[in-house]
Amino acid sequence: MNLIDRLKHWKRKFKFNRQYRRGKWAKLGSDHESVRYQQINAFINEFQPKSILDLGCGDGILNRRMTYDEYDYFLGVDYAKESIKMAKAQDFPNAEFKTKDLLDFTPPQDFDTIIINEAFYYIHDSKKNKVISTIINHLKKDGKLIVSIFREGKGCWEYFKDHPNLKETNFKIVNSKAGTTFWKVGVYELA
Ligand SMILES: C[S@@+](CC[C@H](N)C(=O)[O-])C[C@H]1O[C@@H](n2cnc3c(N)ncnc32)[C@H](O)[C@@H]1O
Repeated sequence: MNLIDRLKHWKRKFKFNRQYRRGKWAKLGSDHESVRYQQINAFINEFQPKSILDLGCGDGILNRRMTYDEYDYFLGVDYAKESIKMAKAQDFPNAEFKTKDLLDFTPPQDFDTIIINEAFYYIHDSKKNKVISTIINHLKKDGKLIVSIFREGKGCWEYFKDHPNLKETNFKIVNSKAGTTFWKVGVYELA
């Protein structure tokens, strides 16, 4: 990343913090968004993971929407410290939240399920492969990676679909309740 890209990265982080402070991301709790969480939940319930890593977790929205509670450890990371503050305040059981930038985050252990839900497109192109390598290096042997991307996800899906160390095992398109937009949710395991 050159200086300009690093500046843009910092400005976006600053903007996310301001938006969380002002409640802009409360909209993720709306009925409109619920379908993608239902799909992610369906996968989580199918896999029954003991450990879950949520990359770009925001304010703990997935925990609020999660119907599965058999995990021993949930780690959510996000670079917006305001969102992490909000997530921590909810005292989710067996869950920890840390302010971390995905560009240089190293998970403290391997996980059964890693989720990157509506966050991958914010990663600068020159860092996308690095973030995927980090995921691969911290996914347990039979672990699952769940990826959700808004609409087409141009310039994103190929990083997962064409990766030599990942195998796609499921892929769903979910439509918003009003049918006005859609998300794609893919599942990957180690190839
Ligand atoms: C659209 S929100 C999605 C929140 C949540 N994952 C959800 O359930 O939809 C995108 C989140 O990604 C985070 N994010 C973007 N780039 C990031 C980065 N480089 N490192 C960590 N978090 C990042 C933002 O702060 C924000 O909370």
